[in-house]
Amino acid sequence: MFGVVTSGAVHVGDAVRLQPSGRASVVAAIESDGHTSGVARGGSPVALTLADPVQALVGDVLSKADDLAEVADQFEATIAWIGNEHLLPGRPYVLRTLAAGSALVTITEIKYRVDLDRGQRLAANQLAADEIGACNIALNRAMPFDPYLSNRETGSFVLADRETGRTLGVGMLKFALRRAHNIQVQHVTVDRASRASLMRQRPTVIWFTGLSGSGKSTIANLLETRLYALGYFTYLLDGDNVRHGLNKDLGFTEVDRVENIRRVAEVSKLMSEAGLLVLVSFISPFRSERQLARELVGSDEFIEVYVDAPLAVAEARDPKGLYKKARRGELANFTGIDSPYEAPESPELRVDTAACSAREACDLVLGELLRRGVVVEPRAMPESSA
Ligand code: ADX
Repeated sequence: MFGVVTSGAVHVGDAVRLQPSGRASVVAAIESDGHTSGVARGGSPVALTLADPVQALVGDVLSKADDLAEVADQFEATIAWIGNEHLLPGRPYVLRTLAAGSALVTITEIKYRVDLDRGQRLAANQLAADEIGACNIALNRAMPFDPYLSNRETGSFVLADRETGRTLGVGMLKFALRRAHNIQVQHVTVDRASRASLMRQRPTVIWFTGLSGSGKSTIANLLETRLYALGYFTYLLDGDNVRHGLNKDLGFTEVDRVENIRRVAEVSKLMSEAGLLVLVSFISPFRSERQLARELVGSDEFIEVYVDAPLAVAEARDPKGLYKKARRGELANFTGIDSPYEAPESPELRVDTAACSAREACDLVLGELLRRGVVVEPRAMPESSA
C-alpha cells in the first residue's frame, strides 16, 4: 500500500494495525524513493508490503500496534472560519483530513470565540468570517487522529460546504471528548422492524416544508385524520406546537432555526423507529437541515413534500396576521420577508396550493403514499387471536 509516513519511523518487521478498520499485520518490505529499505521516516512517501493480504479502507491510517492512534468521533477543536455565511452549530459540513479521509461534521457547541485584538474569550453562538473559536465537534464516524500539537498532519482539518465543496474554514484538533469513549450504542432486542411488523405498517417520515401560510399544517392535519381513519399509527409534529414545548427555548434567528430543525429531525427519526408514520410540518427553510433530516431517517423512508404557494398568496392569506406584523417592522426574521426560504430542488412531491384546495393537496400526498406502498388498501388488519 502507498502512503506518507506522517511521524516517527516504520521498520520492516513492525507489527502494525489499520485504524479505524482494525486489521492487523506485519511490515514485510518498504520501498522509499525507489529503493528497498529497512526503514522509512516521517515525511517520506512509501510503498509498504504487508505480510498479510489486508486491504486498507478509505480513511484508514496505519499505526504501530504498540503505539496506536486514538480513535474518536467527538473532539474539541480550534476553528478559524473564512466562509461568508456564518458557521452555525447543528449544520452539517464536510470535514477533510490529509490522513484519515473525510467525514460529515456538526459543531455541537461553540465554547468561546477569541477576540484577536484583546486576546479575550468571548461568548458566541456562531462564527463570522475571520473569526476563531474553540468548538466541540461531532463526526458521523470515528476517526484516528493525533492532537495538532503532536502531529500537524493528523491533527488538522479543513471544513467545506457540503453542496459546493468550497472551503469554509480550517481547524486543529485539541483532544477527543471523553464522552466519545463512554457512550456506546446499546443494542435493543425490539427494534424498528419488529415494531413495524406488529403495527403492520412501513414507518415513514412525511416532511412538509413551505412558507408560513402555505398550507402545510392544514394538509398535514387532513392527512393524519385520513390515515387514522384507515387504521394507521401516526404522529404529527407541528412547528407551532413543538415550539411550545421541546423547542420553547428557540426563536427565529438562523442559528435557532438550524437547531429547531436538527431537534425535530432527531425526534422524527426516533418516532419512525417507534414504528409510526410521522408527519412533520415545519417551515424548515434551509436545504442543509432538510438534507440532514433525510439522512438521519434514511432516504427510503423520507418523503419531502414541498407545499408551494407564492409569497404573495401566503401573504394574502396571512392566517395569523404575522405577515402584516412583519411588513410593519414589528416582527424580525420573518421567512419570506427578511429571512430566506430555500425551496426544495427535488422533493418527492410538490403541491401547488395556489392551484388546489387543501383537500386536493391531501389527496395528492395520500396518492403518493399509495404509489410508494406506504399506505395499502385495504389496510391489513391485525390477525385475530381466535
Ligand atoms: S422554522 O423556520 O424554524 O422551521 P417553524 O415551522 O418551527 O419555523 O415555525 C413557524 C411558525 O412560527 C409559523 O407558522 C408562524 O406561525 C410562527 N412564527 C413566529 N415568528 C416567525 C418568524 N419570524 N418566521 C416564521 N414564522 C414565525
